[in-house]
Amino acid sequence: MRRFLPIAACLLALAGHARAADEPAIVPSLIPQPASMQVGSGSFAVDANTTISAEGDAALRVAERFNGFLSAAGKTPLRVLARPVDEQEQGASAIRFRLDTSSGGRPEGYALDIDTDRIDLVAHDEAGLFYGAVTLWQLLTQGEAGRAVLPTLHIEDAPRFPWRGYMLDSARHFQSVAQVKKLLDTMALHKLNVFHWHLTDDQGWRIEIKRYPKLARIGSCRIPAGDAGVDAATGKPVRYCGWYTQDEIRDIVAYAAARHITVVPEIDLPGHATAAIAAYPRLGTEGRKIPVTAFRGIHSNLFNVEEGTFRFLDHVFTEVAQLFPGEYIHIGGDEAIKDQWKASKPVQAKIRKLGLKDETALQSWFIHRLETILQAHGKRLLGWDEILEGGLAPDATVMSWRGIEGGIEAAKQGHDVVMSPTSSMYLDYLQTDSPNEFPGRPAPRLIPMDKFYAFEPVPAQLDATQQKHVLGLQANMWTTDNRSFAGVEHNTFPRLLAVAETGWTPKERKDYASFLRRLPAWTHRYEALGVGYARTPFEVIADAALLPGPGDSPQGDALVTLANPLGYPIRYAIDGAGTDMPKLEYRKPLRIKLPARLRAVALAEGRIVHPVQRFDFSRTGLLARTDEQLQTCTADGPVLRMEDDGPATGVRALYNVAIMAPCWQWKDAPLQDIAAIEVRAGRLPYLFNQRAEEDAARKYLPAKSAHGELDVRLDSCDGETIATAPLPAEAGADGFATLRAPLARELDAPHSLCLRFSGDFRPRMWVLDRVTLSPTP
Ligand code: ACM
Repeated sequence: MRRFLPIAACLLALAGHARAADEPAIVPSLIPQPASMQVGSGSFAVDANTTISAEGDAALRVAERFNGFLSAAGKTPLRVLARPVDEQEQGASAIRFRLDTSSGGRPEGYALDIDTDRIDLVAHDEAGLFYGAVTLWQLLTQGEAGRAVLPTLHIEDAPRFPWRGYMLDSARHFQSVAQVKKLLDTMALHKLNVFHWHLTDDQGWRIEIKRYPKLARIGSCRIPAGDAGVDAATGKPVRYCGWYTQDEIRDIVAYAAARHITVVPEIDLPGHATAAIAAYPRLGTEGRKIPVTAFRGIHSNLFNVEEGTFRFLDHVFTEVAQLFPGEYIHIGGDEAIKDQWKASKPVQAKIRKLGLKDETALQSWFIHRLETILQAHGKRLLGWDEILEGGLAPDATVMSWRGIEGGIEAAKQGHDVVMSPTSSMYLDYLQTDSPNEFPGRPAPRLIPMDKFYAFEPVPAQLDATQQKHVLGLQANMWTTDNRSFAGVEHNTFPRLLAVAETGWTPKERKDYASFLRRLPAWTHRYEALGVGYARTPFEVIADAALLPGPGDSPQGDALVTLANPLGYPIRYAIDGAGTDMPKLEYRKPLRIKLPARLRAVALAEGRIVHPVQRFDFSRTGLLARTDEQLQTCTADGPVLRMEDDGPATGVRALYNVAIMAPCWQWKDAPLQDIAAIEVRAGRLPYLFNQRAEEDAARKYLPAKSAHGELDVRLDSCDGETIATAPLPAEAGADGFATLRAPLARELDAPHSLCLRFSGDFRPRMWVLDRVTLSPTP
């Protein structure tokens, strides 16, 4: 089903208006929640006359950054004085930013006091001053225009964890320097401090290495799968390319540092290496030329273990270490399947020569060698939890992604760990089952906001000493399926707020109900900043089913269920063309007479975060389902939400598909008085890795005719074939084929349907876009 076009700028409930002098102060709505906050009864109005006095270079830098953030949110910057404010100036209300290195205090911590006549921000390091300024920025951008009336308050604050991370995959899809900087700005405003930059993978090498220019020149380009890889006018290949020059990287690293963010680069080894081997085939085990791949999934290309390869890696890390001043370099280490090492004579000879047990021990030896290389450049090694296998390198830090068990094991061994489990921290898993989600991993394994929020990085199994090895947590934005930056922003925000709160706020101060009350203020900040956050959690999702029997109207009746993914209360109206605010409180499913128009909105703290939605229900409409409204056959492997390979420009269709056994199910389809089943089918390139063992697990129905057929079964996928229609050789010019399959017999009750396309037509696959039950005339 096609995504709806992005919803135009949101309606905001509250417009700016002039205030009376006794205007009430805002109720602070901060994410992350400070460690401690007491709110008083007085107020302090910040307006165009308010001055910041910034004493010293650090305070001045922070004040300028603060003003930059105010401007970015459409607010007027405040006047900055590089000195204490004198008596005369006291008349104009003043804010004071001050570093006090003499006092004790926790790293990155600050104290913020708002009094009736002044605001005092003090910290003992510059990062703390910066985060205090971010708190003040959040207070000033809660949603009102112009003057902001702040309550008197006292905040003492410092983060729970030193590692509050966000990973961006720039390898699978590339983001511009401006886009990366936009993410860094938004991270800083969430008080996140580690940007893990996934720069190399099978699908692209994105960092310039001067000594090996082909890494970027060759390794950064691929030909997309399917129609996207062919110029329709000329028939020539279309290339997808992108890499960062060293100047651009230095610029990004400095930009991040100015926002108290450390950039941790990842060069993924010894697997995820296809792009590097495409550039320099001598690095691989097969010595042959291979292309940078456009396929997703795990690939078998591994670096070899020749001494020349370690010299190459030493040279690469020499340049990487110079570009990134942080303590850590991430060397990947994940998903290095050992097929090629098993098959390679030189690799096997090396295993024997080193007296190692097997390929897993060789991977451990490989990582140990990398640690030695990194240490020589003054860096510490960080890797995904597979680096535990065969024994950890002595000073390695582990990023736990296949659950938290790797992190627990590493912490017990006395190693530092960062918790980033797939089940709670992967932003490529979708957040709702709305049809307006971008590509990624859809139901049944959604990771909605509450699941992100509930994640606790410090496992109870660890004792107090071991717990100290948990540096913090990180959310990962893999871009395997997401071409666009809009998709990156949508999948990242607002869920990154949940990560920010867990990373910053003391555990005992976390409270999901309170978080949901504070969330709408952040949607307003996103709007002001132009950050593309997901609206889907704020939508009303409507599900409607035809009710059996004649009902009260000629078209019959339907039962409509409304839900908001975040659980905000819903208001609705059943009417024709109303434009007023829906008033009825939604409490339980609604029985409606068909046809009907329903308007609904979820109210987040009384605020309209998402525009009022309109739903038109009719009998014919309810006889159709899109792929998102059907179940996929999840018992047989992963489900992906995948984007079509065309058109070259404009909106592409998206499909939810169980890739190992494409199959869609409609539970209790109303099949009474139905003559035929119509299906609109789309066609995707089959762009999964093609390892023999995974291919053997693929489940396809054998085709009965030249191009296969639509196969519809009754009650279950092993049931009676109730309808079938031959598939054409090709989809139409619009990328779709419409098939009509008459029912083999009349049915007098609802039944479940299982819909499949027979045949294995790789490198392409048919996918379901929409199914319609066609009534007996
Ligand atoms: C990973 O998701 N392969 C670290």
